[in-house]
Amino acid sequence: MANVCVIGTPVAHSLSPKLHGFWLKKYNIQGSYVAQEIRAEQLPEFIKTLPERFAGCNVTLPHKEAVIPLLDEVDDIAKAIGAANTIIVTSEGKRKGTNTDAFGFIENIKAHAVLEGRKQKAVVLGAGGAAKAVVKALIDEGFAEVHVTNRTRDKAEQLKQQFGKKIIPMDWDKRSAILTDADLLVNTTSLGLKNNPPLELDLSALPKHAIVNDIVYNPLVTPLLAQAEAAGYETVDGLGMLIYQAMPGFDAWFGRMPEVTQELRDYLTA
Ligand code: ATR
Repeated sequence: MANVCVIGTPVAHSLSPKLHGFWLKKYNIQGSYVAQEIRAEQLPEFIKTLPERFAGCNVTLPHKEAVIPLLDEVDDIAKAIGAANTIIVTSEGKRKGTNTDAFGFIENIKAHAVLEGRKQKAVVLGAGGAAKAVVKALIDEGFAEVHVTNRTRDKAEQLKQQFGKKIIPMDWDKRSAILTDADLLVNTTSLGLKNNPPLELDLSALPKHAIVNDIVYNPLVTPLLAQAEAAGYETVDGLGMLIYQAMPGFDAWFGRMPEVTQELRDYLTA
């Protein structure tokens, strides 16, 4: 029987136990998935003793980057992003880190919208931890240009250093103007998240064929998505990213690739 957890601080709000718990029950799998509050100073000891207690874990804020040097193996995607969100204990007891956030992001988009013929220009708002996975996914998907605008411009410049010349850093106050010719707009900032200020953005320059995605899923329909829907754009909410990023971990730990269903989405948002 596999026991798995999600570590972070604060971790109580994490939807991962509910998500994995739904699948465990649905597929009648004997196993557990719990939240473990782990502070930064507890992280090395926790990772050291992980194989004794768990088949693996998910890693959430603020440990995704700090966990990397503590692992036995880190795969290419986690290395490229510089962060791991999924740890799998191998049959030899080794701690193997991967990052499924990029997969989660792009699978969510593809599940709801057709990307073919819409890969010339993406605009990413924000350059924090989540933006790294989004930018990596967009480059791997074949986008020609990924414009990144962030309040702290330096962090957008760092993404260019990390992911190459397809990344085009832009000033935050140009965020509405740079929407011209964009095929895809992604918000990775915390603006629009419950109890945070909304994102102020003028969509008038955004072409009508563009897809608008917010990786924030609380609320499910963020002010940005509501604004985009009202203006007639195709929109994709952020809940799917959470669900898709969880799938490879569930498969590795519990031996079954789970499915995304409307029932699951309803359960998570109830
Ligand atoms: P995450 O891992 O979820 O991406 P994060 O690394 O803290 O979290 O990143 C939060 C993002 O939201 C950043 O891009 C941040 O901009 P800064 O890099 O300038 O901090 C952005 N953000 C948060 N509050 C903001 C605000 N009031 N205005 C503009 N951007 C904001």
